[in-house]
Amino acid sequence: MTFSQNADANVFFSCWKSPSNIALIKYWGKSGNQIPANASMSITLKEAYTLTRIKAGLIRNGGGPEVEFRFEGEINEAFGGRIESFLKSVVSYLPFLKEARLEIESGNNFPHSAGIASSASAMSALALCLCSLEKEITGLETGMEAFLRKASFIARIGSGSACRSVYGGIPVWGSHKAVEGSDNEYAVPLSFDLHPVFSEIRDTILIVDPGQKKVSSSVGHNLMKGHAYADARYKQAESNLTAMLVALKQGDWDTFSLITENEALSLHAMMMTSRPGYLLMHPNSLIIIEKVIEFRKQSGSAICFTLDAGPNVHLLYPTGETEKVRPLIDELKVFCHKGTAIDDTMGSGPEKLNCR
Ligand code: DP6
Repeated sequence: MTFSQNADANVFFSCWKSPSNIALIKYWGKSGNQIPANASMSITLKEAYTLTRIKAGLIRNGGGPEVEFRFEGEINEAFGGRIESFLKSVVSYLPFLKEARLEIESGNNFPHSAGIASSASAMSALALCLCSLEKEITGLETGMEAFLRKASFIARIGSGSACRSVYGGIPVWGSHKAVEGSDNEYAVPLSFDLHPVFSEIRDTILIVDPGQKKVSSSVGHNLMKGHAYADARYKQAESNLTAMLVALKQGDWDTFSLITENEALSLHAMMMTSRPGYLLMHPNSLIIIEKVIEFRKQSGSAICFTLDAGPNVHLLYPTGETEKVRPLIDELKVFCHKGTAIDDTMGSGPEKLNCR
């Protein structure tokens, strides 16, 4: 492959906005090159996203990619280093990178310290930009389905959970017998329409602690190797996903809620029972969880909670219950860092932007 002979045409741009996601069925444990130990499923969010823009030019020595990375306007060496090693690891799938010099600019619309997982939105935005550039530069003809599949595959190599953010709604990543076309190397959208009960899920994220995680997800995934409960956990995730699919089809919010909370607590149970064990929940996370359960009992609300690999609590409820749960959320803000709660909803996935 060579770039166009026309000098002016040797500069290419690509820009994507890609959202974060919150897992319902958790990915925890992996092997090889980002192969998940179990299939996972998540809600793609709408408001929390990363915007990434790449300007690509030609280098003739074939020793690329050369990279300059700016995060929110500033050269960022720490992030830049991670991006560079990611790019090197995907050169065999995106050979045009060997002849490319990339100026990458990226930024989140949520504060870096908000405690929202940014690797999913960042890596999916980057993968989408790279796949768009490949199409433009090499003239590769692919339909939308194949394009998104490749972007999901590339995003997975950057960060497992990122491969799900390529799709809106509730995608699945990982091979699972009940999901046709599911694969360990990329995510797929659900092949059926969600029951209307789930068409407008809200996620209010209670920021208990916006700080850096004490133990990174990579370390956590690694601790699943040889974990005493690993096999049972992978079986549990598999059957939870099967039951979740039925609930999503049938509009069974009670089962949705039961499985979502079971997954959140099981994830943290895996952390606590690792060797060495560790705790990412904060005392305030526990207070919030207990108050949510109590509120649900008293009010008959559908609200339920889930957790990422951190202390912040995600509250999931149907949009129709926004007014009903408001007093609870106001009460729970007392247990949050500076009273911070971020409102989000299920979204329709990434968007390609025209931003030269
Ligand atoms: C708890 O996707 O951050 O959020 O593949 O090492 O980048 P890497 O891990 P990452 O792990 C996410 C774990 C989780 C659950 C989930 O999103 O499924």
